[in-house]
Amino acid sequence: MNVLVTAGPTREPIDPVRFLSNRSSGKMGYELAAAFQHAGHTVLLVSGPTTLDVPDGVDFLPVETATEMQEAVSHHIGRMRIAVFAAAVADYTPAAKAAEKLKKSSDTLTLELVKTPDILGSARMAMGFTGTLVGFAAETEKLSAHARDKLVRKGCDLIVANDVSKPGIGFDSNFNEVTLVYPDHDAPMPRASKHDLAHQLVQAILELHHTLRQS
Ligand code: CTP
Repeated sequence: MNVLVTAGPTREPIDPVRFLSNRSSGKMGYELAAAFQHAGHTVLLVSGPTTLDVPDGVDFLPVETATEMQEAVSHHIGRMRIAVFAAAVADYTPAAKAAEKLKKSSDTLTLELVKTPDILGSARMAMGFTGTLVGFAAETEKLSAHARDKLVRKGCDLIVANDVSKPGIGFDSNFNEVTLVYPDHDAPMPRASKHDLAHQLVQAILELHHTLRQS
């Protein structure tokens, strides 16, 4: 099956030498891409900048900004049966990119930010995706309720929810602890390395796909 995975952070340019970004390492998305490939699927990994090696046998499309990621996803999602959005897309981007390097001419500087396109949120309606849609959510409270709200709003079949208030897991770590949030129930998963977790997630996503789409 054709599987799309988004991963990594995005970079939103302020001027030619500066950008806004976040601490996503991309590890979870790269492990997922490798695990789908290992399970015999054809994987396209659309990724923001990371220091990771592209997994063997995975097709790779590097992007920088949220807008570039959206363009790449909308171009390729039509032939995908499963799409997993593990990228930590910047929620806001500078309203304008300065053509020249900003000089420190005043004591304060105000940046005007505008919302980036919600790539996951546009997959179902705007892009017409009919396959199995999986999103990620980072929450610090009411994990299940907030993730389920996201699941409904973005038309997902599953949200992989992360409690980012817990130490030692998530963003920079090799470990993660997630709860799988389905429309009708939750399935907490034990803390595991991102490598092991990716294999468990791929099994759960494939089972869900077969249940929903009988293919
Ligand atoms: N996402 C996306 N495009 C964006 C923002 C997020 O595709 N512009 C995807 C992410 O890849 C992830 C999910 O949407 O799968 C996260 O949703 P989001 O609403 O950003 O959740 P949080 O990061 O948890 O942030 P918040 O609770 O502030 O909404």
